[in-house]
Amino acid sequence: MYSSEALQALKTKAPFVPELAIVLGSGLGAFAESAAAQAGRSLPFTELPGFPAPTVAGHGGKLVFCEVEGRKVVLQAGRFHFYEGHPMPLVVAPMRLYGRLGVKAVLLTNAAGALNPAFSVGELMALSDHINFFGTNPLIGPNVEPGPRFPDMSAIYDPAFRTHLQACAQRLGQTLREGVYLGLTGPSYETPAEIRAFRTLGADAVGMSTVPEAIVARHEGMRVAGISCLCNMAAGILPQPLTHKEVLEAGAAAASRFEALVRAFVKDLPL
Ligand code: HPA
Repeated sequence: MYSSEALQALKTKAPFVPELAIVLGSGLGAFAESAAAQAGRSLPFTELPGFPAPTVAGHGGKLVFCEVEGRKVVLQAGRFHFYEGHPMPLVVAPMRLYGRLGVKAVLLTNAAGALNPAFSVGELMALSDHINFFGTNPLIGPNVEPGPRFPDMSAIYDPAFRTHLQACAQRLGQTLREGVYLGLTGPSYETPAEIRAFRTLGADAVGMSTVPEAIVARHEGMRVAGISCLCNMAAGILPQPLTHKEVLEAGAAAASRFEALVRAFVKDLPL
């Protein structure tokens, strides 16, 4: 959980103040493994007071401080999902820590189901905006100073970062979709009726993370970018059930494209 003890431990153990934090979603954690193997400094979450080890298959549980394309970053392998039963303050605790450590920007990545019928499994999508369907808000409670009590969310996913991501994708010859991510608690996948409803609401993708972290990262004054790996078509779009296995496999299949895009993004990130 975020606390002054956790922050103190992080400050003591972090080898440097990263410019950027990158949260790696399901199936995208291989990036952290390769970075950790190449002179990265790994810090398991369990070394921070109040932080438990994440439990979901396909999710690591550590921070890797490393250089990516010559820039100092921290890679977060694994996150604390609300559906695991973690309290919301823990779900967003890494964002509080990054903000207070002096990190300027966060790239949030996730696995998501695609609602937009123009999108295909395996494609990446830059988040243009989100719909908070968690039924709660991570800022409920006493305001965490010095963030504003009622923070503006009208450009939560930084427009300059989105432009930069598109330029990177184009240079790499990649298709990068752009769309609205609807975040909800899970852990059950959605019903076909829910997916039809969410399409009407304007969602292009659906997933079980990212929204609380994006809100808190903005509250901390950090700039935010988001990328979804579209790992499956959402429930009812195809005549087949959804499995966590297919989500992980699609993530693994997209991993090298994902890593190339993230590296390009980091390289000349306009910070
Ligand atoms: N729904 C919710 N979360 C997800 C999905 C989905 O279809 N795919 C990956 N994460």
